[in-house]
Amino acid sequence: MAKKAEKSKGSSALPAPPTSPAEVAALAVCARHGNKPDELLEIFHELQHQLGYVPDATLPVIANALNRSRAEVYGVLTFYHEFRRHPSGKHVVKICRAEACQAMGTKALCDHAEKSLRTKLGGTTADGAITIEQVFCLGNCALSPAIMVGEKLYGKVDPQRFDEIIGSLEKEAAE
Ligand code: FES
Repeated sequence: MAKKAEKSKGSSALPAPPTSPAEVAALAVCARHGNKPDELLEIFHELQHQLGYVPDATLPVIANALNRSRAEVYGVLTFYHEFRRHPSGKHVVKICRAEACQAMGTKALCDHAEKSLRTKLGGTTADGAITIEQVFCLGNCALSPAIMVGEKLYGKVDPQRFDEIIGSLEKEAAE
């Protein structure tokens, strides 16, 4: 019983003040959104725009600012695929996994991408050059399977075309 009380006391203790630049940025973003819990998605978007990803270290700060549990904030962050928890590679390759692309073989494309780049969806190649992410509809359904590299959209991407696109990125990086 005493142990239980101790644990509960510990979890209600005030968190340490933010010290890292990411934590300070998170606090500022929350304040700009009035520390409103229903603006959590906007807060994540803004933070990701600023930092390139949403560092785990910012979650306690956000939870505290919005008066929500860390688990709740973590749950929302990990539910949405568009949020990154780690810095992305030099190039971000988004592969569509929504219905039209699924029907045209995006599963095989994803398998190929993971195998050839030796990283999982959401991961980055060992050299930090390429991050692959899954997205759900790029608005290019008529030309599925679709991928997006940076701001450039590609349609009818099969594994061979995928390799050509990745090859051109690697060539570009080597020049
Ligand atoms: S379903 Fe893939 S682009 Fe729309």
